[in-house]
Amino acid sequence: MTQDCAKLTFPNNQSIELPCIVGSESELAVDVGNLRSQTGTITLDEAYVNTGSAVSKITYLNGEEGILRYRGYPIEELAENSNFLEVSYLLIYGELPSEDRFKQFQYDITMHTMIHEDLKQLYDGFPKDSHPMSILSSMITTLSGYYTDSIDPLNETHRDISILRLLAKTPTIAAYSYKKSIGQPFVYPRNSLDYVANFLNMMFSIPSVDYEVDATVEKALDLLLILHADHEQNCSTSTVRMVGSSRANCYAAIASGVNALWGPLHGGANQAVIEMLKRIHQDGGGVEKFIGKAKDKNSDFRLMGFGHRVYKNFDPRATIIKKSCDEVLEKMGINDPLLDIAKKLEEAALKDDYFIQRKLYPNVDFYSGIIYRAIGIPTEMFTVMFAMGRMPGWLAQWKELIENPTARISRPRQIYSGFTKRSYQKPDKH
Ligand code: ACO
Repeated sequence: MTQDCAKLTFPNNQSIELPCIVGSESELAVDVGNLRSQTGTITLDEAYVNTGSAVSKITYLNGEEGILRYRGYPIEELAENSNFLEVSYLLIYGELPSEDRFKQFQYDITMHTMIHEDLKQLYDGFPKDSHPMSILSSMITTLSGYYTDSIDPLNETHRDISILRLLAKTPTIAAYSYKKSIGQPFVYPRNSLDYVANFLNMMFSIPSVDYEVDATVEKALDLLLILHADHEQNCSTSTVRMVGSSRANCYAAIASGVNALWGPLHGGANQAVIEMLKRIHQDGGGVEKFIGKAKDKNSDFRLMGFGHRVYKNFDPRATIIKKSCDEVLEKMGINDPLLDIAKKLEEAALKDDYFIQRKLYPNVDFYSGIIYRAIGIPTEMFTVMFAMGRMPGWLAQWKELIENPTARISRPRQIYSGFTKRSYQKPDKH
């Protein structure tokens, strides 16, 4: 819905009426799309703190009230009742699938889980210590070279097949990168297993021993993937949209999202949280010193897994994960000292004025690493797990962008603050 709602007046009394866009949850945005053409002025919003970059039907997030909904469904209800593949369908196609549609979707995904045999050779080119995120993004980009006949983003059939391939092959690529890092043979996908069970089998089975997927582990991982599945216009999703807006193919756009996710201020925080908790553990387990460091403006230490650009109340995903963390560890009979430290750290931070004033709460990454550890996922793979979870969200957002007939290439402007014009002079000898 559009309505005139704002008037901007400049010191020279020039003024402009600006239309407003009202979202379905009554959020209001001032549309500045014509500001420059009418006044010669741009808006400046570094780090996009206050800028809406898309009108989207996929995910609703209210950071003040701690609300997260996929296609209208509260995250709490999806976490309780759905599964990752069903949530993926919901995000990408807009509605929950009927039983028949779901079966077809599951079948289609299953038919695309293998990767081309030649791609396996590429793993040998990576040094042993390569971070699995670098392998994941490289492999995803490389997929475009294997499907040159079906990567046109403007072709609906190509879009559909690219979406299926990426959802289906990401677990295979991820599990292979782990197998490579520990020198074990790759395990082929098994079509008789569900999405998450298949991933666990590719990660943890070895040819010499029978492996059975543990139901608690499968359920815990499925839940984590649901909670990570989409989060509207975050850094990696905006990157996917930015790259996709140039009409680069789906694999190129998604690989860019993987790279954006890798950073410790975004998805890389789950690895950084565990590294921080281990550091505290090695230091004797006391949290006060680290709370002090996090508050010290002369230190670059931050409480990883704390704070969020949008959530200024609590992160509803963190609440669900914390509960699941307790349940999973209890069911598996694991007593992880890092969980005790995490709880102490959270308790101390939530009582501290610094964190209260800045509205810093645990985010999705604070407890997820403890569950990953409990189910045997190595620390360097944590961000890859996040990428697996976020894949349907990236794909849904990419599809929405490409299918929007009014979408244009994303191209922000800037305020130039460098030298004004000066003349070239031959450099001095010294
Ligand atoms: N520890 C200590 N202080 C913090 C933290 C933290 N984790 N997070 C924010 N602050 C402080 C900042 O120093 C700043 O203080 P100031 O006002 O005195 O300068 C204030 O809180 C606001 O922080 P900003 O960095 O301006 O907030 P921004 O919205 O830009 O950043 C971010 C959000 C990146 C998530 C930040 O809170 C952070 O670095 N957290 C730790 C990393 C992390 O957990 N990232 C995962 C986010 S969730 C996700 O991407 C899946």
